[in-house]
Amino acid sequence: MLKQRAVVAGVGSYLPEKVMTNDDLSKIVDTTSEWIVQRTGIERRHIAAEDQNTSDLATIAANRALEDAGVSAQDIDLIIVATSTPDNTFPATAVAVQHNLGNQTGYAFDVQAVCSGFVYAMTIADSFIRAGNAETILVIGAETFSRLLDWTDRTTCVLFGDGAGAVVMRAQPVADGEPEQGILSCHLRSDGSHKQKLYVDGGPSSTQTTGQLRMQGREVFKHAVGMISGVVTDAFAASGTTADDLTWFIPHQANKRIIEASAEKLGIDINKVVMTVEGHGNTSAASIPLALDVAVKDGRVQRGDLVMLEAMGGGFTWGSVLLRW
Ligand code: ACO
Repeated sequence: MLKQRAVVAGVGSYLPEKVMTNDDLSKIVDTTSEWIVQRTGIERRHIAAEDQNTSDLATIAANRALEDAGVSAQDIDLIIVATSTPDNTFPATAVAVQHNLGNQTGYAFDVQAVCSGFVYAMTIADSFIRAGNAETILVIGAETFSRLLDWTDRTTCVLFGDGAGAVVMRAQPVADGEPEQGILSCHLRSDGSHKQKLYVDGGPSSTQTTGQLRMQGREVFKHAVGMISGVVTDAFAASGTTADDLTWFIPHQANKRIIEASAEKLGIDINKVVMTVEGHGNTSAASIPLALDVAVKDGRVQRGDLVMLEAMGGGFTWGSVLLRW
């Protein structure tokens, strides 16, 4: 009997032109490049132009992923945009992207799971494909976090940046006995009791304002490594694989220290870790496809590789996606 697997057919990403270095930030708030690099690994971040919305960043990344996959915008059944910085409260940023791409036959919606948004969106795409509800899905992580930051708060504004990344997922029939390709397992978690540790202090229902990002950094750090390790271990158990079987570990790019501590706890060789946080900071839902695109385009990720994606963020939400490339 034929099963449908969700296979990545193409990847693309986009970082806005304007670069803000740590030295630039030290002219705005009381910080130093040395402090930022030592605590986070971040060297610079990209900032969207005034006339660029999240959907604009998403559209560029999406077009690059479609080109990489050799897929036409008309062939997309579903567009999922993972974002916490939508163009408008409604409609979904995904419908703006759909319009920009010129797709008129599919459907589109947003997913809001903060830094875990891309892992959540991949999981939804996998479910739609396995259920036979869609054949070609565009999964995008796109953010303009610079618009949510309190630029007087040195404990948060140094950490985040803007960007977008996208993958084209396609249904691929797999006959029993054939080597498995595509998404092998997805594990999602959330725990709303941690809401106050990382949140935006505004919203249409509560304050009728957009609000600004607030974070208890040390608290986030304290929980991150344990939560990440939990869902990655779940993925190993579900697939009968181990850290040694992994070819690449592509984590949410929040902080070099969290990534290194997670890899160490999981027994993953540091040479298998894809790290791009130095070049764009924490771009929330966009960070995994940004890192994935770099590793695919520079030839590190090859067909047949076993790739683990993971993320943890506001909510808290966290999750992992294991796939055979
Ligand atoms: N520049 C200079 N000094 C700073 C800065 C800054 N930008 N920010 C804070 N400090 C100071 C603090 O005021 C404090 O000073 P004090 O000792 O005089 O009070 C000192 O540095 C130490 O502050 P801590 O908060 O204890 O610093 P810590 O080592 O915990 O590093 C950081 C802070 C980088 C935020 C860390 O806690 C962290 O990485 N947390 C995880 C946050 C994260 O990644 N969030 C992203 C979203 S969630 C996710 O994606 C996983």
